Amino acid sequence: MNKTQKLYARAKELIPGGTQLLSKRPEMFAPELWPAYYDSAEGCRVRDLDGNEYIDMSYMGIGACIVGYADEEIDAAVCRAVKKGNMTTLNAPEEVALAETLCRIHPWASGVRFARSGGESMAVAVRIARAHTRRDIVLFCGYHGWHDWYLAANLSDDRALDGHLLPGLSPRGVPRGLSGTAYPFAYNDTEGFVRLVERYGEKIAAVVMEPIRSEYPHDEFIEAIHTQSRKIGAVLVVDEITAGWRLNYGGAHLKLGIEPDIAVFGKAISNGFPMGAIIGRKEVMSAAQESFISSTYWTDRLGFAASLATLKKIKEKNIPEVLKRNGKAVQEGWKKAAERNSLDIEVEGLYPLSHFSFKYDSASLMQTIFVKEMLARGFLATGSYYASYAHGEAEIESYISAVDEVFGVIARAQSGGELHRLLDTPVKHSGFRRLTK
Ligand SMILES: Cc1ncc(COP(=O)(O)O)c(C=O)c1O
Repeated sequence: MNKTQKLYARAKELIPGGTQLLSKRPEMFAPELWPAYYDSAEGCRVRDLDGNEYIDMSYMGIGACIVGYADEEIDAAVCRAVKKGNMTTLNAPEEVALAETLCRIHPWASGVRFARSGGESMAVAVRIARAHTRRDIVLFCGYHGWHDWYLAANLSDDRALDGHLLPGLSPRGVPRGLSGTAYPFAYNDTEGFVRLVERYGEKIAAVVMEPIRSEYPHDEFIEAIHTQSRKIGAVLVVDEITAGWRLNYGGAHLKLGIEPDIAVFGKAISNGFPMGAIIGRKEVMSAAQESFISSTYWTDRLGFAASLATLKKIKEKNIPEVLKRNGKAVQEGWKKAAERNSLDIEVEGLYPLSHFSFKYDSASLMQTIFVKEMLARGFLATGSYYASYAHGEAEIESYISAVDEVFGVIARAQSGGELHRLLDTPVKHSGFRRLTK
């Protein structure tokens, strides 16, 4: 066992679940093979503890690093903030500068709060919506983090959250009393959404959704979201934690014509430094003063400094355009490589959040083999490609040529009925589950 694998084996003895983020568990990619730890990273290159270097063509910091790892200008801004003192008894002025920047980009908003992670920022948004309306029920669509308000949906139906990005999320430890406070609807399912509004009406505090994830919204869906939310006086919250800054400069809702009451940002807003922002209409956001919402590290200077530098760079370099271009090249590369090797795959997703899957009964085995073979060729690669400004043409070309080779290996083994010979380690997990007894 190499250093990287040994450390993860030790981690599993000390850290229940192995790591703090489900999406960073090696078991989600290729158990016993995926390098759990990195020593250093720059651009789109990552070095593990054993000195192996990989080009990251997978999640780029699980969606956070759209500019690239260890970006010189963003790091310089953060280092300046470190040198000037990142924490004192007083507040950092960058907090106001970031609030002003976000309201300039989103002129409909004039109130801002900050937190430091995505799920936590969503919990703040839901608290504000409940405080503003003095109601309890939340209708939601998509994945929004680990907090009680969200997992409560699985109390009465333990499969309610399946189909919202991560299947199998267990609500153990969430008070049973929260049962009946959160109900899911599917994206673009106008009828399903309207049915929920008819059932719960003026008990609904908030309608919570990602503006977009893998498909564009239908006009009638957005129309229903707007008219129904307004009719019952519910707060419309859009979760821009993954969608934001990828399709355009700002929240995707700006591009899609969605008019929320609150929008929530995380991840890409600060290129990997902890940061979360909740922006909204003044009259809704003022409820944040009527409920106790407060935390020491929400005042830390680094997140503000990182965000200001990140947003400047996203704008100057028109990064959403680059993400689109890169994602398009990757999607086309996947399709051509699959065709050349007579492999049946499905390619989905917006260009900046691209995805492919094998259309076979043994898809999980094939995905694991894909990860293993791509690692051997120097790539962190899965069925998803989260585009980054750090991916240049050369990296994309060498990635597609490796994909072509690996698709060939998989196709030959598939047609010869010998896929199992390509993997002597376990098959990847596909959702949340216990790692150890
Ligand atoms: C849409 C969306 N909301 C919320 C979250 C949770 O963010 P975090 O992992 O920073 O708590 C994520 C993370 O993947 C997300 O994609």
